[in-house]
Amino acid sequence: MRGKTAVVTGSTAGIGKETARGLARLGARVVLVGRDPERARRAAAELARDTGNEQVESVAADVTCLAGMRELAARVAERCDGVDVLINNVGVNGPVRQETADGVETMFAAHVLAPFALTRLLLPLLRAGAGGRVVNITGGIPGGPIELDNLQAERRFLGWTFTHYNHTKTILMAMSRRFARVLEGSGVTVNVAYPGHGDTPMNRSLPIRAFPYAYRPVVPVVKLVVPLLFGDLSKPSRSSVHLAGSAEVAGVSGAYFDQRCRRRPWPASVLDERTCDVVWELCERLGPAR
Ligand SMILES: NC(=O)c1ccc[n+]([C@@H]2O[C@H](COP(=O)([O-])OP(=O)(O)OC[C@H]3O[C@@H](n4cnc5c(N)ncnc54)[C@H](OP(=O)(O)O)[C@@H]3O)[C@@H](O)[C@H]2O)c1
Repeated sequence: MRGKTAVVTGSTAGIGKETARGLARLGARVVLVGRDPERARRAAAELARDTGNEQVESVAADVTCLAGMRELAARVAERCDGVDVLINNVGVNGPVRQETADGVETMFAAHVLAPFALTRLLLPLLRAGAGGRVVNITGGIPGGPIELDNLQAERRFLGWTFTHYNHTKTILMAMSRRFARVLEGSGVTVNVAYPGHGDTPMNRSLPIRAFPYAYRPVVPVVKLVVPLLFGDLSKPSRSSVHLAGSAEVAGVSGAYFDQRCRRRPWPASVLDERTCDVVWELCERLGPAR
């Protein structure tokens, strides 16, 4: 990936950091994004040292609010003539419904609106090179029904782990599929990657009340075992690195890939055009103007 520039959100820790490491190893210039400037700088320095690639840098921005995303896009535009890869990796989870500074439900903001808005804000840079690639990261168990009257959990928030998380990751897939269609013929591709499980700060920080009652007695054991089984984060970063860099997927757009980089069918709810319309209209209303 020498000569290519990649922006990876949520790359100061967890799977995003490993994805950034993978891209840096392949020779790309990598811009890491996290909220805390010092943490972001430290992560960039660590990756530069480990990979021997000095073109690893950082920008601090909160991608759950529009002001933060505008700031991020402006900082990237100042530094880079073009962006070849945008990986929308930020993920959040939690047991209670929260809203961002913009009044948007936080998981919807992080998983759906941020990938929509950042793609739109960085589109001039993604179009500048030959074939910009947008990779959106899904998670949990995506693929259930999309509740159009509950996209931001305004009617009902099931805080138990992964209920609304899964919902917003499925909504992300619908938004991505539609974005790929909107960008058809532009040279910019949009795909979705499923990483698979990893022992990361997001999972480690989940409180016990985030788990369903029946599951709670085994949570302490699971928390002990998970680092042993899922501590190697190079595995869950594989699908995003593949979609970002592999020649095999050049020109492929509007597709969904699993943790082993295999193309998978979209879930039925994501294929519903009326659902995609409603999701798209909400993103247009909440996101930056074209
Ligand atoms: N872990 C898993 O088992 C798993 C499984 C399937 C899918 N996924 C998905 O994979 C992705 C990465 O997950 P992860 O578990 O690696 O997460 P993580 O370890 O918690 O890392 C999250 C990253 O996002 C950054 N971040 C969080 N909120 C942000 C915000 N508002 N603005 C900018 N940066 C923000 C954090 O940086 P700062 O704290 O420095 O801001 C950190 O770099 C997510 O989309 C997740 O849903 C994870």
